[in-house]
Amino acid sequence: MRKSLTAILFILLPVVVIGGMAAFSRDTTKRNREFPTQMEYSPAYLSQTANPVLPNKMTLQPPVAGTIPRGFTPFHYGATPEEAIRAGSELANPFQATPENLARGQYIYTNSCAVCHGTTGAGDGPVIPKFPNPPSYLTDAAKALPDGTMFHVITMGRNNMASYAAQVSAEDRWRVVLYIRSLQGK
Ligand code: HEC
Repeated sequence: MRKSLTAILFILLPVVVIGGMAAFSRDTTKRNREFPTQMEYSPAYLSQTANPVLPNKMTLQPPVAGTIPRGFTPFHYGATPEEAIRAGSELANPFQATPENLARGQYIYTNSCAVCHGTTGAGDGPVIPKFPNPPSYLTDAAKALPDGTMFHVITMGRNNMASYAAQVSAEDRWRVVLYIRSLQGK
């Protein structure tokens, strides 16, 4: 009796296990059953998807007109020579010529400006004369340029000088003005 029970177990067990594996196996190239689907698919709209409710049919909305990022000072000047003069009469450099600010200004100047304006500010950088040369900073006219006008030129660009607003932050533009002043011996 005992022997036959063991024999049955030895034969039945593999049949049950292998049969079960075969019965519950699935085609892994096909999608499985999903449960519960509410956890998988949120009813909220995803940021990048179309939206039938909101204006312009987009889920991600642009910021409200006039929104100012935290810590950003707006620059309310147009890109004309008159506006550069107005900036010169209205704006003052918010930074002092501390060793830290001058060192940062020098870093920006060396990396972004010296290629045209030259290391001493004489307007004789390595790309000159392939590029039309900028005016020297060392003339009396350049020394008399107000800080705000310089900031305007660096921010908005002027003629052959492109705007550096995208590459150099407003703070660093003021610091580079400090550094130009030091080149001018001020
Ligand atoms: C690709 C060359 C080039 C680079 C790089 C360049 N500038 Fe200029 N810059 C010029 C030219 C050319 C002018 C003259 C523009 C004009 O004809 O009105 C100028 C003019 C200026 C002026 C006005 C000078 C004056 O006497 O009126 C300032 C200030 C100035 N640049 C600052 C900078 C600063 C700061 C940087 C770096 C962030 C920089 N520039 C990078 C070419 C360059």
